[in-house]
Amino acid sequence: MAEIVGGYFTSHVPAIGGAIQRGDQSEPYWQPFFAGFPAVRDWLAAARPDVAVVFYNDHGLNFFLDKLPTFAVGAAPEYRNADEGWGLPVYKPFTGHPALSWHVIEQLVADEFDVTTCQQMLVDHALSIPFELAWPDADAWPVKLVPIAINTVQHPLPSAKRCLALGRSVHRALASWPGRDRIVVIGTGGLSHQLDGARAGFINQDYDRFCLDSLAENPDALTHDSIIEIVRQSGTQGVEILNWIAARGALGPVAREVHRNYHVPISNTAAATMVLERP
Ligand code: DHB
Ligand code: FE
Repeated sequence: MAEIVGGYFTSHVPAIGGAIQRGDQSEPYWQPFFAGFPAVRDWLAAARPDVAVVFYNDHGLNFFLDKLPTFAVGAAPEYRNADEGWGLPVYKPFTGHPALSWHVIEQLVADEFDVTTCQQMLVDHALSIPFELAWPDADAWPVKLVPIAINTVQHPLPSAKRCLALGRSVHRALASWPGRDRIVVIGTGGLSHQLDGARAGFINQDYDRFCLDSLAENPDALTHDSIIEIVRQSGTQGVEILNWIAARGALGPVAREVHRNYHVPISNTAAATMVLERP
């Protein structure tokens, strides 16, 4: 049977890609953020995943406002990254795991999630930056990819409760997958940030700590707020916490925090990194 080795969660600010490209990891501005990653890399090296199920949001590279699925699951043999206009490097391709993707889709639809299935899909900085942070020296990514995109961009967004339930359905799929894969679950985005409007630059450290403190042991606490209340608390883009909530659901009922880093700000964002283990 497959094994879910644990969960890795991180912010996905595009400027991180520029810092990596320039080799700025030790600069005073960046050091407190990158300092959170040796522990992630050591944990991944020990956990030896060969598949990553990634919950993230597309920012307009693959889906635009004209067609924006609430939940989309990739089932492609390969996913390419592309220039989104941030001036970032285009990262190497990601190998898919279509058989596992279809198994996840079967479970989601059986559980009455009406997902969009994508046999062609580009992945943006929300997926590539977390990979580059996790495996900076890899010639090829060491894991196959099952990407799950959640709409955090165009309202109405799915509720936090719905996202946690989606993740739990994915957990059922992973737990019944007969392959021998070692699966890491990844959630990207957040924490609090707002890029536009009158509150641009808004950060809420109290709400971020509530999210970080709840994720492992009480994720249901994160589902009590409505989307509008989450936006109020965490900013228009802070609602990317939905990706973390879904990923937490995919880990299964019990998870233990083994690593956390939190630093304010990176660009406009409260940057957070976390690793959760399963018993
Ligand atoms: C920033 C953060 C994001 O999550 C994103 O997708 C784009 C930009 C930022 O803080 O600059
Ligand atoms: Fe984002």
